[in-house]
Amino acid sequence: MTAEPSRPPVGAAGARGVAGQVAVVTGASRGLGHDLALAFAEAGAVVAVAARRARDVDELVRRVEADGGRAFALELDVSRPDSARAAAKAVLQRAGRIDILVNNAGLGFNHDALDVTEDDWDTIMDVNLRGLFFTTQAMARPMVANGYGRIVNIGSQAGIVGIPRHAVYSASKGGVGLLTKVLALEWAPHGVTVNTLAPTFIRTPGTAERLDDPAFAAQILAKIPVGRFGATADVAAAALFLASPQAALITGVTLPVDGGWTAQ
Ligand SMILES: NC(=O)c1ccc[n+]([C@@H]2O[C@H](COP(=O)([O-])OP(=O)(O)OC[C@H]3O[C@@H](n4cnc5c(N)ncnc54)[C@H](OP(=O)(O)O)[C@@H]3O)[C@@H](O)[C@H]2O)c1
Repeated sequence: MTAEPSRPPVGAAGARGVAGQVAVVTGASRGLGHDLALAFAEAGAVVAVAARRARDVDELVRRVEADGGRAFALELDVSRPDSARAAAKAVLQRAGRIDILVNNAGLGFNHDALDVTEDDWDTIMDVNLRGLFFTTQAMARPMVANGYGRIVNIGSQAGIVGIPRHAVYSASKGGVGLLTKVLALEWAPHGVTVNTLAPTFIRTPGTAERLDDPAFAAQILAKIPVGRFGATADVAAAALFLASPQAALITGVTLPVDGGWTAQ
């Protein structure tokens, strides 16, 4: 029998969500990470808005504060484990604890498998898989010690099914899915859940160039049964749920947010 996590308490109506909790969102300078940080702040979390260059999130922090929310900029290059450890320390100094980690930082560029270079492999893996692991290790340490935590990884539908020209990206995101299961098992006794969201294509600075190509966009849309691309709000809604105290019994899961792409 494991002890009940001591904190944070779930409101009597079970509607507490993430309000008042300390959430780290990585890769928040633009795209999905930017919108996830905003969504967590709007839901009342104290958000450590992490980016490689803190100045890239200053405007977002100001916007949150102007709206009455709480956020601060955090320098974090996930490809450097020393940066992750320093960032975790900085959050603890600033906010006293870490309740939630959203591992959003990631990158992908696509080549035919025969053209992938060693540099391509290392660049993607260093951020998407190795970086995610060591960032998680650094941020989870205080969660485990504290007996409570919620870790939400941003994977991809490409980590569940194969997509041509995505060899390295798919391998990295597939790795995140399995890492999710192992970490979920190791940290379940400590009140820390670990889950992954697997979005379909969403228009962000990272995908704009490809989705602006009408032929590519049409080909992608044809594979999404609900008939539209994803939106950052779709991912934020799922992330807020998995990061809430109410999702205590959900761990080790990869949840597609893909309009049915992987149901086929
Ligand atoms: N958009 C989609 O269609 C889609 C679909 C499925 C999954 N995803 C996943 O969702 C996440 C966000 O994607 P996005 O489309 O928003 O991408 P994006 O527009 O390219 O933004 C990527 C973010 O990751 C950050 N980043 C890159 N390398 C980093 C590092 N070493 N340390 C810290 N941050 C780093 C970037 O920061 P800098 O500004 O410093 O470069 C940027 O903020 C990624 O994990 C991606 O794989 C996206």
